[in-house]
Amino acid sequence: MRTHEAGALHADVTEPPSALLVPPADPGTLAAAVWPATATRDESGALVLGGVDVRDLATEFGTPAYLLDEADFRSRCRDFVQAFAGADVHYAAKAFCSLTSLRWIVEEGLGLDVCSGGELAAALRAEVPAERIAFHGNNKSVAELEQALDAGVGRIVVDSFAEIARLAWLAEERGLRQPVLVRATVGVEAHTHEFIATAHEDQKFGFSVAGGDAFEACRRVLNHSSLDLVGVHSHIGSQIFDTSGFEVSAHRAVALLARLRDELGATPPYLDLGGGFGIAYTAADTPMDVPALAASMRAIVARECAAAGLAEPRLAVEPGRAIAGPASITLYEVGTVKDTPHRRYVSVDGGMSDNIRTALYDAQYTCVLASRVSEVPPVLCRVVGKHCESGDIVVRDTWLPADLVPGDLLAVAATGAYCRSLASNYNHQPRPPVVAVGDGAARVVVRRETVEDLLRLDMP
Ligand SMILES: Cc1ncc(COP(=O)(O)O)c(C=O)c1O
Repeated sequence: MRTHEAGALHADVTEPPSALLVPPADPGTLAAAVWPATATRDESGALVLGGVDVRDLATEFGTPAYLLDEADFRSRCRDFVQAFAGADVHYAAKAFCSLTSLRWIVEEGLGLDVCSGGELAAALRAEVPAERIAFHGNNKSVAELEQALDAGVGRIVVDSFAEIARLAWLAEERGLRQPVLVRATVGVEAHTHEFIATAHEDQKFGFSVAGGDAFEACRRVLNHSSLDLVGVHSHIGSQIFDTSGFEVSAHRAVALLARLRDELGATPPYLDLGGGFGIAYTAADTPMDVPALAASMRAIVARECAAAGLAEPRLAVEPGRAIAGPASITLYEVGTVKDTPHRRYVSVDGGMSDNIRTALYDAQYTCVLASRVSEVPPVLCRVVGKHCESGDIVVRDTWLPADLVPGDLLAVAATGAYCRSLASNYNHQPRPPVVAVGDGAARVVVRRETVEDLLRLDMP
């Protein structure tokens, strides 16, 4: 059995954060910022999502299961479309990609970002109009570029000089003029509440603005008659809670656009400032509401363009987590409750194979007893998975009722983004289903893997 390796991303934290040292008055309360819009408790105390009792969902679909609140997902789409009216909103498929949710994206009027041939194939299968798709990635293969060109994707975001040459040739061969954005590295890395203004020049994505490569990339795109430079793109990070990082990013991207106009007479129509908008995983997280975010982003772009004397390009944004993340929860069944001299460990029937974010990023989550409420005072617990890794932690520190027993159901909030899409078959664990709920009904949108699925690639 492996233990946590030296050099792993986080050290074991023996003391919980100070905010967790005092038990909450009611650990079963569903804080509105963290849980999907339709989450509530019925008179028996069971968690209800989309009008369906989670105990019934567990019986019908098994655990672990991702439960996706369709109304919540759709309303987050609409919030972005309304708040960013006049701009383009592209959902980043990497956050969560299923045929059903991609269809919702189209129905709600968003475009789509894909970053692999697989995501592109899913988008096309879901009948996302190709012209509404943007294709990202720092190392798209020739086959993927061909797939994108043949499908007629609306934009390709180029990320290296080699790719510009390759794409130009492939487009020319097909007699196409492909719209292209140049991914600019603006030297800002945004993480949670801070941004590091210079450190992130050193990374694999994009062309450096400061070093001149971004300008050179635009120049080369302009020189190819088979490519149409339609904009500049920047993405500065994830879980961003204010717009200060976007301000720096917009400043540098607008400066690049102004230089393109001044030196090359080019005025590409789009400025894409990427995604990364933060969500609440715990009550301590304070995301901006979408109208405030949109107003601030628009004001930043307007101000920067006015200062540079530039006609305002059309803004584009790429939310992933902010749409998919809060809309889903994961339902687990408790298997064992173990008291050690250090803490209580509650083991559930999933873990790092369905949610790697805690092990990978030290992510914090909110967890409640979902099958009932308890009057018994809570105990500080660590919720762990069933995998053969000591770092297999689902929720590092959480208060759960002391009378928790095997068979109880736990719900972990805000698992809709980067959980199913980062899920693995570690320990040959079949990946859980995604069950969409709404208006008192439930339907499987991604079925549970079976052992047969796990073995289907093995040669007999
Ligand atoms: C280019 C690009 N756009 C958008 C996103 C979506 O980010 P988020 O899900 O944090 O909004 C990402 C995430 O990595 C990205 O790389």
